[in-house]
Amino acid sequence: MSRTLFVTTALPYANGSFHIGHIMEYIQADIWVRSMRMAGHTVHFVGADDAHGAPIMLKAEKEGITPQALVARYAAERPQYLNGFHIRFDHWHSTDSAENVALSHDIYRALKAQDLIETRSIEQFYDPVKGMFLADRYIKGECPKCHAKDQYGDSCEVCGAVYAPTELINPYSALTGATPVLKSSDHFFFKLSDPRCVEFLQQWTTGSNKQGSKHLQPEMLAKTREWLGAEDGEAKLGDWDISRDAPYFGIEIPDAPGKYFYVWLDAPVGYLASLKSYCEVKGMDFDALLDPNGDTEQVHFIGKDIVYFHALFWPAMLKFAGRKTPDAVNVHGFITVSGEKMSKSRGTGISPLRYLEIGMNAEWMRYYIAAKLNARVEDMDFNPEDFIARVNSDLVGKYVNIASRAASFITKHFDGVLGYSGDTTALAAEYAEQAESIRAAFEAREYNRAIREIMAYADRINQAFDTAQPWVLAKGIATADDAQKAALQDICSRSLAGFKALSVMLAPVLPALAERVALELFGAQAPFTWADASVLPQRVAPFKHLMQRVEPQMLEDLFEPPAAPVVVPGGEPLADTISIDDFARVDLRIAQIVNCEHVDGSTKLLRLTLDVGEGRHRNVFSGIKSAYKPEDLIGKLTVMVANLAPRKMKFGVSEGMVLAASHADEAVDAGIYVLEPFPGAKPGMRVR
Ligand code: 2FM
Ligand code: ZN
Repeated sequence: MSRTLFVTTALPYANGSFHIGHIMEYIQADIWVRSMRMAGHTVHFVGADDAHGAPIMLKAEKEGITPQALVARYAAERPQYLNGFHIRFDHWHSTDSAENVALSHDIYRALKAQDLIETRSIEQFYDPVKGMFLADRYIKGECPKCHAKDQYGDSCEVCGAVYAPTELINPYSALTGATPVLKSSDHFFFKLSDPRCVEFLQQWTTGSNKQGSKHLQPEMLAKTREWLGAEDGEAKLGDWDISRDAPYFGIEIPDAPGKYFYVWLDAPVGYLASLKSYCEVKGMDFDALLDPNGDTEQVHFIGKDIVYFHALFWPAMLKFAGRKTPDAVNVHGFITVSGEKMSKSRGTGISPLRYLEIGMNAEWMRYYIAAKLNARVEDMDFNPEDFIARVNSDLVGKYVNIASRAASFITKHFDGVLGYSGDTTALAAEYAEQAESIRAAFEAREYNRAIREIMAYADRINQAFDTAQPWVLAKGIATADDAQKAALQDICSRSLAGFKALSVMLAPVLPALAERVALELFGAQAPFTWADASVLPQRVAPFKHLMQRVEPQMLEDLFEPPAAPVVVPGGEPLADTISIDDFARVDLRIAQIVNCEHVDGSTKLLRLTLDVGEGRHRNVFSGIKSAYKPEDLIGKLTVMVANLAPRKMKFGVSEGMVLAASHADEAVDAGIYVLEPFPGAKPGMRVR
């Protein structure tokens, strides 16, 4: 029975290039999709850029461009990766699209009509300088437990403590350095704690699809049981805050000016938006395709870090918006290199573009990934020696070699015509059975088992070839009897039939190679389908080189050497480029130091009284005690940041900052130098 499938991979954030983890996920999904298509099923395989959210907004702002321009820049480089690795999405879209706005609005309105959206006022840190509420990762301060400085708002990297940002000592905004203030604002919540949601999720997470396979892998089911409190009977699912206040790059919430959907609300809706946009291009009926009572199977491939969103929030959103719910969420682990997390600084990062640029074959990577992936949520290790061995010994040594050895005899002695002695029914049946076993392994995402079985068949074919010793049979073949000729033709033909069957089985993994084998070597009219495995070939074209071996040097070149420490002036690299507008936001003024004194109890600070011509004096603390005596500074002119948010310090409030030069590393005793203008400057003049 022919099935219709809607398949997605996680939508990548549009503020970075693809890394090898993305490529691994896409290859996993692409192999699955290709195998399904070879079985005659209809598959709509779509992706999109995940465009919204604060990080993208802030990165664009830093670069002085619009978020749309930033997204477009990354979108433009996607095809070279996807084409390069033979990853063939039918369509690629963006969450920043008209389709996504319409669908997100629809879903939200439907949830609201179900009484599953609630408004609550929450109190949150707000950056008064930036005029923006701060997510935990944009708040820093001193850890309340171990007192380590500069820790993030949710947890301490030094002692591991987890806390609320309000518990930080001397919190500051990582964006501006300002002291955040608590401010309340209305947020919208999706009521996941509602008994209807809890009950549905109990069902969905433990449920199976029409094919009889579980929605979730066993490991993931166990996780969701924990999250749902299913084991200890305690309801643990909290309501989900789905709104963010302006400024935010996202989709505005209907009837709520200045409120936007949190990026994780509209990101998965982007799956639907991409399919919808694809349907428009193809003239297909989107609503019919995703009819909640229809037969389309909706399958998501994702990484283990985003299971919460896909196994709880997403099915619930869809369900209570009256839409089709997912049929499978297939979760994979991360990719490690030689057993460790990838690290650029250790020189173990794999850049997918570099891989292609140094001339490595994309199908080697596809083969290697397939050889190591299974259906469990396990990390996959990329090991350079193992990579070389599997590609050179297995893929080229066992599989490609069959064709190069057998085809040359057929071309030379039989003019390209294959001939089998005796009945071939059993042989064809055997290939049909093997191909079905491999197809099933692909469908179950047991790729490593498929590859293992394929290589075992290759071994058997090679053994039969070696046992028959065709090179012996070929000696004096011109004058040999018919039986000898038939024996030579038979063993070479069987080997080539085996090679063809193996090529069918490897086609989802090696699409380009398999297509050449089909069209060029065996003269087929179209790329292989599963049914081709058991059709014994009758002719073979003269063998042309099919696949190179990996040069070990390539693996050396693949890993960029760890970046040598760069010698930088002043001990720190230059900061990211800012726009003139960014600079203009810093109000620098000439200030006169009208008084300066020691601060009791401080070994670092001096207290400065500054006049910036505003009819009052400012109190500023400055960490320059090691370099100056108070009397050296009194009466001098300097430069200060006059619009820095006042900061409460242990010794009082500091109302600005005096500019001074120093080395980045305090341990380098290079001194501290307060800035002083050329003669003629007057207090209050702006510095620009
Ligand atoms: O974790 C991520 O990279 C997200 N951009 C994935 C989103 S998947 C889907 F929800 F769009
Ligand atoms: Zn700590």
